[in-house]
This record gives sequence, C-alpha cells and structure tokens, in this order.
Amino acid sequence: MDNITILAIETSCDETSAAVIRNGELLSNIVSSQIDIHTLYGGVVPEIASRNHLLSISRVTDKAMETSGVTFNDLNAVGVTYGPGLVGALLVGVSFAKALAYSLGVKLIGVNHMRGHISAAFLAGAKPPFICLVVSGGHTMIVKVKDYNTFELLGQTKDDAAGEAFDKVARVVGLGYPGGPKLDKLAEEGDDEYLSLPRAMLKEDNYDFSFSGIKSAVLNHINSAKMKGDTLDRAGVCASFRKCVCDILVQKTLRAAASHDLKNIAVCGGVACNMLLRRYLKEQCDLLGYKLTIPDNFLCSDNAGMIACSAHYQYLKGDCSGLDLNAAPSLSLN
Ligand code: KG4
Ligand code: ZN
Repeated sequence: MDNITILAIETSCDETSAAVIRNGELLSNIVSSQIDIHTLYGGVVPEIASRNHLLSISRVTDKAMETSGVTFNDLNAVGVTYGPGLVGALLVGVSFAKALAYSLGVKLIGVNHMRGHISAAFLAGAKPPFICLVVSGGHTMIVKVKDYNTFELLGQTKDDAAGEAFDKVARVVGLGYPGGPKLDKLAEEGDDEYLSLPRAMLKEDNYDFSFSGIKSAVLNHINSAKMKGDTLDRAGVCASFRKCVCDILVQKTLRAAASHDLKNIAVCGGVACNMLLRRYLKEQCDLLGYKLTIPDNFLCSDNAGMIACSAHYQYLKGDCSGLDLNAAPSLSLN
C-alpha cells in the first residue's frame, strides 16, 4: 500500500485540531486552542467548547490541508476522536469527519483519544513493546503497548487524574487556569520538603493511582494556614505536591517496566510536559539503562497529529468505522 494519506480531527475537549499524515509521517498538525476563552470561567465550559469547535473546525481543517500540500482527493481516510471526552465537543468532530468521509467516498476511522496520546510516542520514535505512562487532565494510566494496535491497561487512577489534581491545587494556591503548567513553573523555585505528603498507593502491589487524598492534604494545609493567619509558602506547596505526584508516577512506571521485563518506557499526555516528571524519569532511566521516549510538549497536549498516527495504524489493520459512528464520552482503552 503506497501513500496512505489520512486527515484526522480532534475536538474532545478545548482544542480544535486537524492533521494530515502520509505513510506514518506528519505533514501538518494545526491546533486552535480555546484556552483564552475558558480562562475567563476558570475551567472548560462544555457548551462554549462545542460552539467554538463549530466556529473553528472548517478553518483549522483547511489550514491542515493547505500546510500538508495534499488535496482532498489524495485522502484514503478521515480519522476522528470519538471518545473519551466532552460529548458535545466530540460530536462536532465526529459529525464533521463523517460528512467529509462520506462526501469523499473514503474510509472513516474512529480513534480512542487515549490511544491517540499513546501514539504520540510512536511519532517520537518509540517502538513497541514498551510501558507507557499516560497522564492527562482526565486520565492517569499505565499501559503495556504490545504492538501498534494492541494495548493492555495495567492500572489507572481510582479517583482524580494527575492533571486534574495539578489544576485543582493550582487553583487553591491562586494560580488560575490552566493550573498545571503554572504550578510546575512556581514549583521550580520551591522547597519540595516543605510539606510532608502521603505517597498514596505507592506500596500497593498494583499499577493503580489515587491522587484525591494528596490533593485534600494540600488543601487542608492551605486552609489551616489561612485560619491561623500564617503566610503561605506557595512555591513550597507547589514543589512538595509536584514531587509527591512525580514520585508515585515514576516509581510505579519503573516497577511496571521491571516486572514486564521491558526496558523501553514512554510518557504521553498533557502532564508529560511537567518539567520534574521529565527530568526525574530521564535520570532514573539513565541509571537503569532504560530507553525513555517523551514526545515534544506540542505532541503531549491534545493535538490531531497523535490521532492521525493512531488512525494510520488502524487503517493498516483494517480497523475502520461505519457511518453510524457516535461520540462515546466514557470510552475505555480496551
Ligand atoms: O492531555 P491534555 O492536553 O488534555 C486532556 O486530554 O486532558 O492534558 C491537559 C492536562 C491539564 O490538566 C494540564 O494542567 C496538565 O495537562 N498539564 C500539566 C503541565 N502541562 C499541562 N500538568 C503539570 N505540569 C505541566 N507542565
Ligand atoms: Zn488529551
């Protein structure tokens, strides 16, 4: 099969994105972020996200096509994220992709957003099998990537996702939205031993996580400091929280690699932009002789390039969807 060319669409949350991939190589990856709009409300407002996807999707798709240098007639398939995510936001992308695939007479490929995040590691050069830590605003999971189309979920969070916990703590510390990157930056200046926080579930012999107790411990500290009139060491709070979360993420990922006899590790999803997580894992992997792949920040946050990559491998396997494809807000990995 020569020149497999796929256009992919991503609208699961607050980024409207389109990308073109040819033979597994990205030709374009356009992302239009709605962050400025949602910042006014302190978080993503689902209805506003859907409306803005509607306003942007044609423009973003045209730009992705134009940048790629291919024409609509060159396309073999249209890929689209159909879950998990915000139902109204997903529906915009799914309806758009269905109409496009139907009118062009090409295949439609529904892509799982989490599988998309993992596929960013393929774009960055990771070759299966490997252990993948997927950390985003909605999910935290450890996955064994057996090949380009086979994934085994080893464990996941029982409550908050890591990104969600970062965002909530950042809000209480007064950093605003989106909090993860701001907390990460302030943490660079803080003492990571300022607060002693529980390494939840670290000792348990599984690959599951729990972040809500750690988040509550931080919030309790902040509330009691406020009541006592103590000044809060905001950088210390951020540094201690970040260190605690990263300790758990890194230790459990390394443990999964060791017990599955794999020396290749990848980290994907928005939280993979975290500076400490990147440094800490690199240091540990170097020490243990493991190969670590962390895609560039642009490929870790939501983007259609990662969806296009998954669609490429699904196309090779003949894993295509019918025109009855629907949004699946709670779609699981397997
Ligand atoms: O993967 P993503 O772009 O969207 C989802 O699918 O959720 O991840 C967004 C999440 C947000 O919670 C954001 O605060 C977090 O990733 N994030 C970070 C950093 N950059 C983004 N969390 C910690 N440190 C960062 N540098
Ligand atoms: Zn995502």
